[in-house]
Amino acid sequence: MQTNLRGRDFISDLDFSKEEVETVMEVAFDLKRKRALGEPHAYLRDKVLAMLFFFTSTRTRGSFEAGMAQLGGHGAFIDSETTQISHGDTAKEIGEIFGRYFDGIAIRQCDWQFGNKYENEVAAASRVPVLNMQCDIYHPFQCLADLMTIFEKKGRDLRRKKMVVSWAYAASYSKPISVPQSLILQMTRFGMDVVLAHPPEFKLMPDIVQQAQDNAKKYGTGFEIVHDMDEAFKDADIVYPKSWGPLVTTTDKNEGKALTEKYKSWITDARRMKLAKEDAIYMHCLPADRNLEVTDEVIDGPQSVVYDEAENRLHAQKAVMALTMG
Ligand code: CP
Repeated sequence: MQTNLRGRDFISDLDFSKEEVETVMEVAFDLKRKRALGEPHAYLRDKVLAMLFFFTSTRTRGSFEAGMAQLGGHGAFIDSETTQISHGDTAKEIGEIFGRYFDGIAIRQCDWQFGNKYENEVAAASRVPVLNMQCDIYHPFQCLADLMTIFEKKGRDLRRKKMVVSWAYAASYSKPISVPQSLILQMTRFGMDVVLAHPPEFKLMPDIVQQAQDNAKKYGTGFEIVHDMDEAFKDADIVYPKSWGPLVTTTDKNEGKALTEKYKSWITDARRMKLAKEDAIYMHCLPADRNLEVTDEVIDGPQSVVYDEAENRLHAQKAVMALTMG
């Protein structure tokens, strides 16, 4: 168990070592148990977390805000539109000033080729931990909740379990690439053989893919990329199909839309689920484009664990907040 997390930022999945993530998991399960038993666990009494959002949210806002209250503190929701950021407050000023008011600064800034840079600039100027509620590159808290859910459903020994991280078609908007990138970075450290599936134009950032390959080598796991959803699903233990934009290929909206429309067949339906193992689980971070990314039958069916995943956001985030802000 590694306990040296106080004061640390959590912006990239790999900011915490594997052992540190294991510590987060132990604390998260303890906090989940305490909440189920109604045991008080006010580890952050009188502490306040700034929750700065540049983008909409259901789960992230709800779980961070509830989590801070359950830990005895307060989560201050700040919509960037209501601040003076558009009138000139720089990242350095936000880090300096919020770092003096608050005990932690959580940020969601997903703008492509900007969000991660912004969060790191705030962190460089802040005297308190900066927590990444999703940027253009990573969604590390989603991934911790996903890991916790996989431990619950598949056990702690995940060696040789096949996890598929797949692109899926959606029509709503060009979704960030942060979830699949976090998944391939973190899950390759935890025993699973990770298969990344996407149409050729929907590749992830080359340096992230390289880090996933390096992890797989270091931890003796598998990592491969395929361009066929059916091939990926064969004999899978865990499937995590979701949409993301072709941002690495093009930032032109019309071109991106045209590319996306080529791949309407990339849906998770009952036929495709049958290619996976009988006890395979279906995961999605939500929100999903229902009946485009995934059929109602699958997402509402017995193999779906999406609500447990959403719940585990709360417990995993409380663990990181208690360990870093305490
Ligand atoms: N999964 C997730 O981050 O959900 P929200 O966008 O609703 O916060």
